[in-house]
Parts: sequence; structure tokens; C-alpha cells
Amino acid sequence: MIIPKANRLDQVKEYYFVRKLEEIAKLNKEGKNVINFGIGSPDLAPSEEAIKALSETAQRPNVHGYQPYRSIPELREKIAEFYKRVYSVALDPNKEILPLMGSKEGILHLSMAFLNPGEEALVPNPGYPTYSSLTNLIGAKIRHYDLKEENGWYPDLNALRKEDLSKVKIMWLNYPHMPTGTEVKKEVLESLIAFAKEKKILLCYDNPYSLVLNKKPPISILSVEGAKDVAVELNSFSKSHNMAGWRMGMMLGKEEYLNAALAVKSNIDSGMFLGLQMAAIKSLENSEEWHKKRNEVYHQRREVVYKILDYLNFEYSKDQVGMFVWAKPKDTKAIPDVTAFVDKLLYDKFIFITPGEIFGSNGKGYLRVSLCVPKERMEEAYARLKS
Ligand SMILES: Cc1ncc(COP(=O)(O)O)c(C=O)c1O
Repeated sequence: MIIPKANRLDQVKEYYFVRKLEEIAKLNKEGKNVINFGIGSPDLAPSEEAIKALSETAQRPNVHGYQPYRSIPELREKIAEFYKRVYSVALDPNKEILPLMGSKEGILHLSMAFLNPGEEALVPNPGYPTYSSLTNLIGAKIRHYDLKEENGWYPDLNALRKEDLSKVKIMWLNYPHMPTGTEVKKEVLESLIAFAKEKKILLCYDNPYSLVLNKKPPISILSVEGAKDVAVELNSFSKSHNMAGWRMGMMLGKEEYLNAALAVKSNIDSGMFLGLQMAAIKSLENSEEWHKKRNEVYHQRREVVYKILDYLNFEYSKDQVGMFVWAKPKDTKAIPDVTAFVDKLLYDKFIFITPGEIFGSNGKGYLRVSLCVPKERMEEAYARLKS
């Protein structure tokens, strides 16, 4: 390459899955038929009404132009209705809702809108790798905070208070937590909001898993009193509505925070195709029965995953929610290196599972199994392991 890349790319590692998926594709090309428990990309379909709305809209003339940056008002009104019904949160559809092309882009908008170069973002360890990579990309600094099993995978705010947080502007939070499957408690959110007010930190609450295998009613941080002063929420259609490839999400919160994000967004994209917006509206009308059915499929799959993990002699909590199972070896002398163990599984049994350490150093010694694999393929994996 004659033209050198920008320095900012020195800070960013290639997304782990890009490399791993290439390895898997190579094995598949050799006829190995890899069973992939890696990525959380739902293999189930969105609702029929959503698909119909997309295709019917696409057939219409005069719908193919640019769309409003904030989306059509009908979509924002539907999101407001959804938040009221599902999370008991009242939002003003004209001011407090910003539809997105997936929540991942919202992570970039918020980072760009609130972090100057050299300022810091608190990032969970373990956690979704995008928080770190985007913080790096924009020249801000990552300040990891520990999530540990002995602390219920919740932040230790007393430990954080002892640190110099003067440069911290935002804190990434994600519950139900990926990869550990931890559900949040209202008290935890309350203490986080008090902490954020005290330290003047914007809580960026990433909430894409709250409808997947949740045990309690789904929780939004915005349902906690006073939250809107210091918190914005991201939500997504990817997992809860089986629409990961459609790239649809939303940002919720106080007008001033959303306007800052919109100032970034409106300079990057030019609105979401109307067909997608119409499909999003239809998806938000999915019945409770629809969500129950999706969860039933994941529930049955999870039973097979438990069987596989038992066979591999791993332990896990059955209280987990979301679309993964997080597990660790029962005997760490027998399996001292989980990353080496999952690589061996890939090359000996052609089964791919994500090693926990890609989510941060506190994920070392764990692995994450995705439920986005048909049950029959899971049974095949079990049979392969036993053979
Ligand atoms: C915690 C977390 N946040 C955000 C995302 C991105 O979701 P979206 O498809 O809405 O961009 C993911 C996807 O895996 C995720 O696990």
C-alpha cells in the first residue's frame, strides 16, 4: 500500500470475529461443516407483517428518496407507545426518541458527541468490544471498570469512587449484560444514577437484550427517577425482533443529549429507507405471543447448550438472560486455558465457541455460547463431541 493509513487505525484491532469467520469459511470450504456457536445473529425470522410492510413500501413510487434524519413521526410515536407499554417509560416522540440504523451506530454518535480527544469513557470489562474500539478510534481514552463474578457482574462503585475520574465524560453500561447474561436490578441502576450525578458522567445504557429470555419484566434505565438528567438509552430491533441484518435501533433520552448525537448522525447518514421504517412500526406491534414463541425456541435450545456444557464439564448459572450462555470449566486444572480449549474444539470437532477473553481480561477463563443455532445443529454438535 503506497498511501499510509491514518494513525488512529493503529489503536484499533481487527474485530475478532472477522478473522475467526475467515478461518471458519476456510474450514467449511474444505468440507468440515463447522457448527458455529459464535455470533449472536438471530437465525429466526422477523414477523410476517414487518416483511410485508417492507416489500409493499418498496413497490410504491415516490418512497425512494431521502428520509427525515429523525425518521417519520409515525415511527417515533410507535416507539413511544412501545416504551410505555413494555418499560413503563413515558417519552416525548418529538424530542426524546431518535431512531437509528442499529444501536452500534449510536455508540459512535454518543462517543463523538461527548468525548474530546484525551477524555475518558468508562468501559465494562468484560463487555461488548465496540465500546472500546470506537473510543480508541475517536482519540478518546478507555478507562475499564471491572465486572466480576464475585460482585454479581455489577460495577463496584466504591472502588470507582477512589479513582481519579476527572476526565471521564461517559460510562458504557449494558444490562442484560453481554456476555455474562446478568439481569439488572433497579437498586443497581439507582446507585449508578446517583454516582453519575455526583461525578457528572453521562450513562450510556445499551439495552438490546431485555426481551430475550428475560425472567422479570424488562427494565429501562429511564424508568428510574431522575435518570433522564444523566442517562441515555440505546435499544435495538436486532435481537428482540430478529432483525439484526435490517440495521434498526433507537436512542432514547433527554432532548439535549439526543440533539448532540443527531448533530453527528445527520452528518454521517441521510435517514433510513422508508420501507425499513414501516417495517419497524409493524415489528413494534408484535404481540406478546410472538415474543413468547421466540423465547420458547431459545429456551429449548438453551437446554441443549446446557447438555453440551455438562458434557464438556463446564459450569454456568441458570439465571442468565439474553441469547448466550456464559460458562467456565469446573476443573481449571483440566482446562487451564479456555482460549486454547475453544481453538482445539474448532480444529478437532469443527465446533466454534467464543472465548470469553475477547470481551476483556475479566472474561479470561470463560466462554460464551450463542443460542442462534438451530436445535438440530446443536444436537449434531453434541453427537460430534461424544463421537
Ligand atoms: C451489547 C450489545 N450492544 C449493541 C449491539 C449491536 O446491536 P445492533 O445490531 O443494534 O447494532 C450488540 C450486538 O451484538 C451487543 O451485543
